[in-house]
Amino acid sequence: MSAGPVILQLVGATRVHGDGAREVRALDEVDLSVRMGELVAVMGPSGSGKSTLLNMAGGLDTPTSGEVLLAGDSLSDLDAKGRAALRRRRIGYVFQDFNLIPALTAAENVSLPRELDGVRARKARREALAALDEVDLRQLANRFPDEMSGGQQQRVAIARALVGPRRLVLADEPTGALDSTTGEAVMKVLRARVDAGAAGLLVTHEPRFAAWADRTVFLRDGVIVDATEPDEPEHLLTTAGPRHRDGR
Ligand SMILES: Nc1ncnc2c1ncn2[C@@H]1O[C@H](COP(=O)(O)OP(=O)(O)OP(=O)(O)O)[C@@H](O)[C@H]1O
Ligand SMILES: [Mg+2]
Repeated sequence: MSAGPVILQLVGATRVHGDGAREVRALDEVDLSVRMGELVAVMGPSGSGKSTLLNMAGGLDTPTSGEVLLAGDSLSDLDAKGRAALRRRRIGYVFQDFNLIPALTAAENVSLPRELDGVRARKARREALAALDEVDLRQLANRFPDEMSGGQQQRVAIARALVGPRRLVLADEPTGALDSTTGEAVMKVLRARVDAGAAGLLVTHEPRFAAWADRTVFLRDGVIVDATEPDEPEHLLTTAGPRHRDGR
């Protein structure tokens, strides 16, 4: 499968926290491009800058220096409100700690970004139920987060990231609280969405989940220290590997 145009581009993206002796370079001159149709895995030890990279990519935080471009437009040209609107419309974000709203049911959590974007409540609910169906949670649509297991909450967060026509999915360890079977199922959903023309950036600690990606970048101390090529021969030879299974 050939990848499409570049949707996300980080150019010399740097994020520094604190100053002087307490300065932390969470991200240090990172260059990265992600194309439509591409799923890119991000791996690296705790504290290496993976969440920081995702926050930059999603416009949740802005680089100290360098640039983040979404479909060619610089996020730094937008104000906070503009970035929020862009995120709602174009970017699905699965947070490391889910971030579900406790007072809303699963279906309401998933439909919220659509309703905020002006989609009528009925249509938003229909889309939410379809997204919950994709993660096999349709039957828990009316439960509240505290009535669900950690893995179920995580799947709701994934449904919320996939709902509607989102084209860029940023997922920070979406399989962290899932058993391996459910984890594989979630990867299948992500893979299918990307194959259908979206793009994805996936943080994971698990090589077996990274195997679903087209390539992997490795971070250490805020720097990309290694990356696999998009079409490594090894990748093409593992015909039984996840990448080659039917997405659905
Ligand atoms: N608000 C902050 N103030 C100071 N330092 C921060 C802040 N946020 C992150 N950092 C530091 O930036 C570095 C990168 O953090 P980040 O959360 O991106 O790591 P990570 O790779 O996602 O780790 P994990 O696997 O544990 O989630 C860490 O050293 C962290 O302590
Ligand atoms: Mg993190």
